[in-house]
Amino acid sequence: MNATTPAELTDDVLKSFGGTPDPRQRELITALVRHLHAFACETRLTPQEWMAGLRFLTATGQKCDDRRQEFVLLSDVLGLSSLVDVINAAPDATESTVLGPFYVAGAPIRAMGEQIGRPEDGSPTLVRGRVTDVAGRPLDGATVDVWQSNDSGLYDTQDPGQPPYNLRGVFVTGPDGRFEFRTARPASYPIPTDGPVGDLLRATERSRWRAAHIHAIVSAPGYRAVTTHIFDADNPYLDSDAVFGVRDSLVRPFRPAGSDDPADVSYVVDMDFALAS
Ligand code: BEZ
Ligand code: FE
Repeated sequence: MNATTPAELTDDVLKSFGGTPDPRQRELITALVRHLHAFACETRLTPQEWMAGLRFLTATGQKCDDRRQEFVLLSDVLGLSSLVDVINAAPDATESTVLGPFYVAGAPIRAMGEQIGRPEDGSPTLVRGRVTDVAGRPLDGATVDVWQSNDSGLYDTQDPGQPPYNLRGVFVTGPDGRFEFRTARPASYPIPTDGPVGDLLRATERSRWRAAHIHAIVSAPGYRAVTTHIFDADNPYLDSDAVFGVRDSLVRPFRPAGSDDPADVSYVVDMDFALAS
């Protein structure tokens, strides 16, 4: 007998995947079917709405190339990227948050304390801290790969006026786990809205602004790498970040430099990173 009710139809589809050999794959695909079918039933999805959804997903795929990943952006604005981070967080380690589309591998390894930008990129800022394990023991040979926008909210890859790898750098800790770099105080910026994700944000009257931040991927041999941010505590978008990327534990004051701080900086940010093994 073929299915006649929504529940019977859902059951038939679930059974069709019942022979999936890999148990995790079976769990994922059957849960996806259950939730998709429940969504269609709950909303009484019409054929026109279903087709509009397929057109939206098609446009999302068509906006992707080797420089632009609109599906990741969609996952970001739906909060799915952040949800996956939160579900998989390692206890006591620095919280992770979205990678974003502006990471470029291969940034130069820089000397401790080096400036990663140019004077015209923004207010001179010293960022410093330690990389430790979750018990607070310093990690020797950890890498802190940082990247950020300038004070106009632009990354080097978006701004022909910036040289390649501007506001990017990799710092390697010594036995004390310490790192330190000079940079510019970053600004808020809008996520890319020239694709279907932008249409979605406009149709739903949502903000497209990201809270100002510095990105970091922190890693050490034998430890779980963390992809994270340092957020500016003074930023007005901390409670409305377009990609739900803010974690309270990652917000830091950019405090005005005092007489005990290096004379060439206007702000100082202290940020430690802890890695789980
Ligand atoms: C970013 O911080 O670079 C970013 C993250 C997610 C979506 C868009 C931009
Ligand atoms: Fe960013």
